[in-house]
Amino acid sequence: MTLEELHQGISTCEKCGLSKERNKTVPGDGDPHADIVFIGEGPGRNEDQQGLPFVGAAGKLLSELMVGIGLERKDAFIANVVKCRPPGNRDPLPEEVEACWPYLEQQLKLIDPLLVVTLGRHSMNRFVPNKSISEAHGQAFRREIPNMGKLVFFPIYHPAAALYRPQLKDEIVADFSKVPKLLAKIKQDKEMRAEVDSQSTQPKLFT
Ligand code: URA
Ligand code: SF4
Repeated sequence: MTLEELHQGISTCEKCGLSKERNKTVPGDGDPHADIVFIGEGPGRNEDQQGLPFVGAAGKLLSELMVGIGLERKDAFIANVVKCRPPGNRDPLPEEVEACWPYLEQQLKLIDPLLVVTLGRHSMNRFVPNKSISEAHGQAFRREIPNMGKLVFFPIYHPAAALYRPQLKDEIVADFSKVPKLLAKIKQDKEMRAEVDSQSTQPKLFT
C-alpha cells in the first residue's frame, strides 16, 4: 500500500464518532520519504476546512520554525494522532485515539523516518509515556513502538501553546535549533536502531 492509498482510505473512514462532525479528514501532508515527521494531536478548525495539517496560526509558527532550520514543509511529513477534528478542539477521547492509531502506525511504517518530532504533551505521551513535557522537551528518545518499528522521538512544546506564552516560544526555538545536528547524528549512527531493546517500553535517551 502507498501513502496515497492509505490517505484515500482515511477519507471515507467512519471508525469513530469524530467522523460525524468533520468536514474533511486531515490524514497528513508532505514528503512520503521524509527523514523527519512532525506529529500533532488533531486537526483544528482551519485544518478541518482545508483537509491539511497545521495550516492555522499554530501552523504558521511551525512553518517559521522549520524555515529557521532550513527545512521546507514539503521536505518533511506533518500528521496528527487523530485525523478528524474533535468538536470544539477538545482532546480526543481514548477510544478515538485507539480507532485512529492504525493509520499512524501505517504512516510511520511507510515513511520510516529518521526522527519523529512530537508536538505537545499529548502527542509526546503516546510515544514517550510517563514523562512531563517540561522535563522531556528538547531531548531525543529511542524506542520500539509495536507495529511502527524502532524510532527516535524528539518532544517539543506545541506551537499553539507557544503562541500565547513567550517563554515557551523561546524554548521551542531553542529545541528546534538542535534538530539538524540530531538528524545528522542519527544518519551517522547506523547501530542506533539495533540497540533498542524490543521488549522494553522504556524509552532510551539518545545522546
Ligand atoms: N494543532 C494540531 O495539533 N494539529 C493541527 O493540525 C493543527 C493544530
Ligand atoms: Fe476514522 Fe480517525 Fe477520523 Fe475516527 S478520527 S473517523 S478513526 S479517520
